[in-house]
Amino acid sequence: MIIEQNKAFLLNGNNFTYAIRVNALGDLQTVYYGEKLSATDLDFMQKSVADPCIPALNELNRETYTDGLSNEFGSFGRGDYREPTALVVRKDGAQMSSFRYLSHKIFKGVPEVKGLPHARSGGDTLSVTLKDEFSDVEVTLNYTVWDELGVIVRNAEYKNTGKDPVSLKKAFSFAVTLPERDYGVLRLYGNWAKERSPQVTPLGYGTVRVQSLRGSSSHCMNPFMGLLSENCTEDAGECYGVQLVYSGSFALTAEKNPANGTVRLQGGVNDTGFEWYLEGGETFVAPQAALCYSSEGLGGMSRAYADFLRERVINPDRVFARRPIVINNWEATYFDFGYEKLCEIIDAASELGVDTFVLDDGWFGKRDSDTSGLGDWVVNEKKLKGGLNAVIARCKEKGLKFGLWFEPEMVSEDSDLYRAHPDWAMHKAGTVPVRMRNQLILDFSRKEVVDSVFGAVSKVLSSHEISYVKWDMNRTMTEFFSAALPAVRMGEIAHRYILGVYDLAERLTAAFPKVFFEGCAGGGARFDAGMLYYFAQFWTSDDTDAYERTKIQWGTSVCYPVSAMSCHVSACPNHQTRRTTPFATRGAIASLGATGYELDPSKLTEEEKEETKAQIEAYKRISELVLRGDLYRLSSPFTENYFCEMLVSKDKTTAYLVGERFHGDPNDYMRILRLNGLDDRKTYRIEELGFTASGKALRTVGVPFPRLSDFGGWTWHLTEVK
Ligand code: DGJ
Repeated sequence: MIIEQNKAFLLNGNNFTYAIRVNALGDLQTVYYGEKLSATDLDFMQKSVADPCIPALNELNRETYTDGLSNEFGSFGRGDYREPTALVVRKDGAQMSSFRYLSHKIFKGVPEVKGLPHARSGGDTLSVTLKDEFSDVEVTLNYTVWDELGVIVRNAEYKNTGKDPVSLKKAFSFAVTLPERDYGVLRLYGNWAKERSPQVTPLGYGTVRVQSLRGSSSHCMNPFMGLLSENCTEDAGECYGVQLVYSGSFALTAEKNPANGTVRLQGGVNDTGFEWYLEGGETFVAPQAALCYSSEGLGGMSRAYADFLRERVINPDRVFARRPIVINNWEATYFDFGYEKLCEIIDAASELGVDTFVLDDGWFGKRDSDTSGLGDWVVNEKKLKGGLNAVIARCKEKGLKFGLWFEPEMVSEDSDLYRAHPDWAMHKAGTVPVRMRNQLILDFSRKEVVDSVFGAVSKVLSSHEISYVKWDMNRTMTEFFSAALPAVRMGEIAHRYILGVYDLAERLTAAFPKVFFEGCAGGGARFDAGMLYYFAQFWTSDDTDAYERTKIQWGTSVCYPVSAMSCHVSACPNHQTRRTTPFATRGAIASLGATGYELDPSKLTEEEKEETKAQIEAYKRISELVLRGDLYRLSSPFTENYFCEMLVSKDKTTAYLVGERFHGDPNDYMRILRLNGLDDRKTYRIEELGFTASGKALRTVGVPFPRLSDFGGWTWHLTEVK
């Protein structure tokens, strides 16, 4: 709901109020962002928080000293010494800017965001247009809220309304001023096979910047930032979050102002190496950012984000549909397979209850290692006798569907594609390119490149019975040079690349609506809301070890729903860590997401085969909770000897709990697990324990953690008893 009172606006979601106003100078200011309030307090909010800044601005300095104001858009070179939200360079080279109110409108629904993933529907939107006093650039700031959701979605559109070109050296999506407080900054950092570890450090005065310059959102830093009040815990206390609906190089900054302790939180496309050239009449649309306020700790924020992504971002045809349970051959064979080996896997898998066999890397071009073949999306019939059709026929015969791996954005130098079009790779002729995994990245800023890949992938998909695609991406961007872009536009390449990726994803998913697409990026290097718009699930990490996965999945759940996490049971010793964990534990941890298998089923023991069948049957029972449930994180793998999470149905009648004890510790016997998230007034039965207790007792008295040996896992099913 959006309420307007004399150019002051109150935007309410289900648990928060975001209030902004146009001040006497024409600045758009944050008035308040926090716990939900009503419009009757809008006047008070302004007088109490925003107005006191104004008397300090006497006639002499009111135009120039804006450093303490809570502006929703940071200008440059006019007395606001915090980092600006945009940097506009005019024809004469001047860079000062001052964005002041021009107009606004309020409408039902979401703004149009062409070419970028975005919140899809519903809501109410406020669009405020500001005009730069020193150039012809207008910026329209969009704010969308939904009565039933805990997020506000923001973005900015920069339009050059003049005749002279300008360039944007920075064009962030949003800025907001958060109240004075000692915040902890939460980021999700990591690396390959170690994605999204939460880390909190004090913000302090000055700027904390969370970013990627890799051309993708990356393994190393997720496009998310949390600002936590001092008393924020998993279950209580206030926090703010922001995540970008974007998959390229990004930056999120939090800057605590020494003048008054307030914090400017802002972000968008990374401005390092960025320069967007705007001819007269052209517009640059910055990606959306989803801001979240929670008074119920980090858990509250995670659930709000899960609801937002499931309800408004992820493809509605896919998000709540039962996910295929796949078996993938990557860790079973790597590049070393032929028709016979695949048949062994398919035959064995068909007895286990999985839905789909997914053929991973190595089926195309000349591809027996990672040194060649990428870009040649034609089946290698020498390696795979009978081609894909023979494999598909075997799957059908055995009652399985067939899925296929692609890496559409890449090219090997040893490939027919590269030999035909060396300039399609993103590097500068005459320089030695940086090779990662022996491959180059295609220049997706060029339409003809995207068109060609669309043609090649479509040809495979339309000529075979393929129900599932795993879209991989295994290197980061270097060189940042396009043979097709003019010099003034070279700073656009990283963003144009990701627009090309979105274009291809949009076209392929639209052309093949029956195919289920899973995203992947050398594990979870592009696990972000942007990719989730196209792909309902993403390969969470190449690390499938049942201990490491508790941490990776916990961190990922901070701002993504479990249904978006693709989680597989793999063989032991684990290929990434060499650790051996019980088969049951691997199954339990992989059930906290879109489950599947990543192993050679023909090598399973009879006992493991029976366990697999049982795991799949058990998963079917809880799959609705995975798709729609609320997640409660109960015991952290980062600080405790036990991992524990629970999914609770929206009506709180059923719940599914998964835990793991890491190692034998003589002192942790009789530790108590408190079950937050149930309905205090309902009575529940824990099937495996035979206990019946009220939700309140389970939350307050709790249940002893089970005593298990090293890496022992357990699952409990809770049902309301009437
Ligand atoms: C990286 C992915 O994360 C793996 O699952 C596998 O598909 C390989 N790439 C194949 O090259």
